Amino acid sequence: MFEVIKTEGRARRGVFTCAHGTAQTPVFMNVGTQGAIKGAVSAHDLKDIGCQIELSNTYHLHLRPGDDVVREMGGLHRFMDWSGPILTDSGGFQVFSLASLRKIKEEGVYFSSHIDGRKIFMGPEESMRIQSHLGSDIAMAFDECVENPAAYNYAKASCERTFRWLERCKVEHDRLNTLPDTVNPQQMLFGINQGATFPDLRVWHMEEIKKIDCDGYAIGGLAVGEPTQVMYDIIDAVEPHMPADKPRYLMGVGTPTNIIEGVARGVDFFDCVMPARNARHGRLYTWEGSINLKNEKYRLDDRPIDPTCDCPACRSFSRAYLRHLFVAGEMLAMRLAVLHNLHFYNTLTQRIRAALDAGTFAEFRAEYSEKLERKI
Ligand code: GUN
Ligand code: ZN
Repeated sequence: MFEVIKTEGRARRGVFTCAHGTAQTPVFMNVGTQGAIKGAVSAHDLKDIGCQIELSNTYHLHLRPGDDVVREMGGLHRFMDWSGPILTDSGGFQVFSLASLRKIKEEGVYFSSHIDGRKIFMGPEESMRIQSHLGSDIAMAFDECVENPAAYNYAKASCERTFRWLERCKVEHDRLNTLPDTVNPQQMLFGINQGATFPDLRVWHMEEIKKIDCDGYAIGGLAVGEPTQVMYDIIDAVEPHMPADKPRYLMGVGTPTNIIEGVARGVDFFDCVMPARNARHGRLYTWEGSINLKNEKYRLDDRPIDPTCDCPACRSFSRAYLRHLFVAGEMLAMRLAVLHNLHFYNTLTQRIRAALDAGTFAEFRAEYSEKLERKI
């Protein structure tokens, strides 16, 4: 269930409810690809950093340990001990970014596993079955994500096929939810808009997929090679064609600035590996811009990463100590840095929601949209 409770311009403040609880939107989903956040962060830590929705990947969990194992163990919620909402991506992106020897056919994609080279087939029905075994709250439709820049004719044929795949996903998803031994019979299905950087394809595709009754709609195929302004222009073109009463999810995006600008354009859900990946490389977010913690200038810096942050790293440790851990290659450096950056992203969306509640999102955007892009 989704309810928009307030708007400011095109920005929306909403409440999303599924079988495992409620999320306040706009929301940032924290990425635990294989059922753990990279950097030794468990589901128990997620509560401390304000995570509302965890995101895992169909492709990875199918290859290892196998979705049959997760199902036997009672589903992904029990397996990783996270009782809150979970979204699973369909594999439609990872197959294209990770697997090798890919062959795309009408029935689905033939590829070799990036782990052991094993030959695997995944189509819409397989993706729905795997996500049903995982028992996530939101299953994503199986799609093809085309890299930008793409040729118009290829993008057209691809998004037409992605539409036919969605029709098959919907049929199989409905069937699986009604089986007597389904892990999560209330699992939702989100459709995914594609069409590369071509506004006419994007709008055509959105108009088609919204005829299929999904619980939400995502914009995929962005932040895959196109300039940032082109991404914003595509959201501007598609958004008026998205159902107003369903959640909207911008997949794999992005920087703090991208999130503020996405909210300003009517997006409700975000996810990105960037905050955790940046953290593991020592790039940490503050409300004045991001810092490189490995820098010599923090050698004797007694301050926390961000003075306003109450994450487990900032509550106890100085920049000098954390820098030392990074330089010394201690695993704890990565763990604390990841906790800080994810806490920052969850706080960012929390502050966006507070601004929307107060009717001051325009001021928030003016103050932070550019500032958070700075490297200080
Ligand atoms: N994650 C980021 N972009 C995409 C996309 O286009 N499709 C899917 N399935 N996942 C994504
Ligand atoms: Zn912190």
